[in-house]
Formats: sequence, C-alpha cells, structure tokens
Amino acid sequence: MIISGKELSARLKAEMAAQVSSFPEKYGRVPHLVVILVGDDPASVSYVTGKAKASQVVGIENTTIRRPSDISEEELLGLIRELNADDTVDGILVQLPLPEHISEARVIETISKDKDVDGFHPLNVAALWQKQPCTLPCTPKGIIKMLKAAGVKIKGKRAVVIGRSNIVGLPVAKLLLDENATVTIAHSRTADLPSVTREADILVVAIGRPRFVTADMVKDGAAVIDVGVNRDPETGKLCGDVDFAAIEPKASVITPVPGGVGPMTICCLMENTIECFLNKMTPKKV
Ligand code: GUN
Repeated sequence: MIISGKELSARLKAEMAAQVSSFPEKYGRVPHLVVILVGDDPASVSYVTGKAKASQVVGIENTTIRRPSDISEEELLGLIRELNADDTVDGILVQLPLPEHISEARVIETISKDKDVDGFHPLNVAALWQKQPCTLPCTPKGIIKMLKAAGVKIKGKRAVVIGRSNIVGLPVAKLLLDENATVTIAHSRTADLPSVTREADILVVAIGRPRFVTADMVKDGAAVIDVGVNRDPETGKLCGDVDFAAIEPKASVITPVPGGVGPMTICCLMENTIECFLNKMTPKKV
C-alpha cells in the first residue's frame, strides 16, 4: 500500500480549516505565520511557496519576508527580534539552509521558543528529549501521523532510522521510541548496513542519496518511510532515498516521493502554528 501524504494532509488541512474558521469569533483573529526566505535557492523558494499555499487552505495568515543572500547575520537577527516582539505574529520560520556567513544555530536560538513552529529551538529540543510539552519538529511528527493513519502498529516493533540529523533522524528516532518501538539509529558509516535494515519492521530513511536503499536491504512486509528529496541523476526527476519500484512490492506500506512525507511536513507546520496561537490565546494555568 502506498501511503499518500498528499491525501492525508489534505484531509487534516480541511479539519484545521474548520477549526480556524471559528477563531475570529473566539479570539478576534486567525493565527499568523511569518516565513523568512534568505536568497533565491529554487528548492527553498518552492518550499516557501508550498507553506504559503497551505496557509491559505487552512485560513492562516501568512507573511513571506524575502531578504537578499548578502543580508548580514545581525540584520537577520534584528528582523527576528522584531517579529518576536510583535504580538500579532504567532509563528516564525526561517527557511534553511542559510548562506554560509550566517550561523543557523544563532538564527534558531534567536527565534522565541514560543514562536518556534519548526521545533528547532534548543529549549524545544531539550523539552522533547525530557518528555516535557514542546513543539514537535514537523517532519518527524508527520511521519508518526502517516504510520498511524496507515494502521502500522509501532509498539513493540523494531524501527531503524537511517540518518542522524537534528531536523529528521534524531527526533524521529525519539518519537518512535516514545511510541514504544525499539529503535536503531544507523547512518552512512554503519558497518554492514543491510544486515541492520533487514531487521526493521519500520524503516525510516533520511540520508539524502538517490536510491540509497535497495530491495535487498528491506525485510518483507516492512513499513518504509522515505524522507529523501533528491534529483535522479539519470532522469533529473525528483526522487527519494529508496528504490521505490523495487521495494514497493516487498513493503507492507511505503511513502512515495514526491507526495509522501513532504506534504505532511507542511501540514504539521500548520498544526504547530495553530498550537502556538492557542498557547498564547489560552495560556495554561500554573
Ligand atoms: N529546510 C528544509 N526543511 C526545512 C524545515 O522543515 N524547516 C526549515 N525552517 N527549513 C527547512
């Protein structure tokens, strides 16, 4: 079975749109997401456009701020601080990657934790690993939603995650662990990787190499989640990290690229923006 992230995200966005339509009456306004795009990398432009379109579908106000790639770090941090102080802004996202002269770590830690819709702020990351309430990073959150929607049982299963990035590999491993899977984090230097991945009931691949995972690496009946977004070196088309054609017949469920994890990431960004808005509008009593 192919898990369509496109269909699932469309359903979830429709539910969010219904929820958001009640906000003007309840709270006097709708959530407001500000996306900052530095430079004009085509992939980043396309992601940012996708975020603006999804906001429109859900009924969230979206402001995209574009800055040239030679903006100084101080100027960018100044812009973020202004948005932190702006009460009409609920979520702030700075599209990554950034030009080399700008420290991504400084940018991420400058965004207010309460407006960090990506879930990248060190305080959000710490809260995740300490099992405290936090904003979950969008791609890992979307992956868990897809597995659940496809009826994949996670509890007690063996999960293997290939990739150890802060954005996907590490947090998705933590979320799978929290769902009571037994998790192995592997990477490009793992010795005899096929012997590790063949044990996986759930295989998540986030390594960024076209067709890195071949059919011999996948157990029959595994659930395969492909987080890769690559250009196929032969056809130039978008492709994942998994040899889809060879593995689809073996897998119980598999995500396509495009149309799998990508739309779910944006869907969870919408959810996180609503969460940040509601946290502000209905503060928890302490
Ligand atoms: N670049 C690629 N994916 C992401 C993401 O999820 N958030 C941000 N801010 N930048 C990205």
